[in-house]
Amino acid sequence: MLNMALPKGRLGDKVFSMLERAGYGGARLAENSRCLVVEDEVSEVRYFLVKPSDVAIYVLHGAADVGVVGKDILLETTPDVYELLDLNIGICRMVVAGREGFTPSRRVLRVATKYPNIAKNYYDAQNKEIELIALNGSIELAPIVGLSDVIVDIVETGSTLQANQLVVLEEIMPISARLISNIASYKFKNAAIQQLKKALAREVTV
Ligand code: PRP
Repeated sequence: MLNMALPKGRLGDKVFSMLERAGYGGARLAENSRCLVVEDEVSEVRYFLVKPSDVAIYVLHGAADVGVVGKDILLETTPDVYELLDLNIGICRMVVAGREGFTPSRRVLRVATKYPNIAKNYYDAQNKEIELIALNGSIELAPIVGLSDVIVDIVETGSTLQANQLVVLEEIMPISARLISNIASYKFKNAAIQQLKKALAREVTV
């Protein structure tokens, strides 16, 4: 069996329907149960449902042969895995956001984010010194309460920014979900992985 790590939550729903269209997973993946392992005996794939930020960890360590993960996580954690396919779903943007009209002062810019490496690389490339404030979620709160000047975060619909009276100040890069593979699995389970990749590639809409 091929073991596949899938993200739960917002991205998961899109991945499940793409897999279903590709002939994998079936309707069982979309069932909102608390079960973390779903086996599909027809396509011979066992799915692990994990936190989006943990998908690449399962794949890196070989507990899962393949997985679907956001490019944001790949850029942030740079796991030693193969990136096989851009699925063109879960499309969002990595941005700098803050209060409308925010202009940096001469003080060191305080940046709150759950992507410290992406933020550091972005400002390093501009030779800008920053103070990084690493958070785990609800990043939009930081500039509102004065914890930071700006945030580096992903924006999908923009509704979280809008609800918190924040705006996009700078675009960093576009983000989408990727099919990834463990390096050893890619060699030893190549036929099954290629079959999955081909089936998913047919469902990618550009
Ligand atoms: C992400 C991101 C933003 C939000 C953007 O957070 O960090 O907060 O989604 O989406 P939107 O543009 O569609 O509003 P997530 O939902 O993962 O929750 P978190 O704050 O717990 O990280």
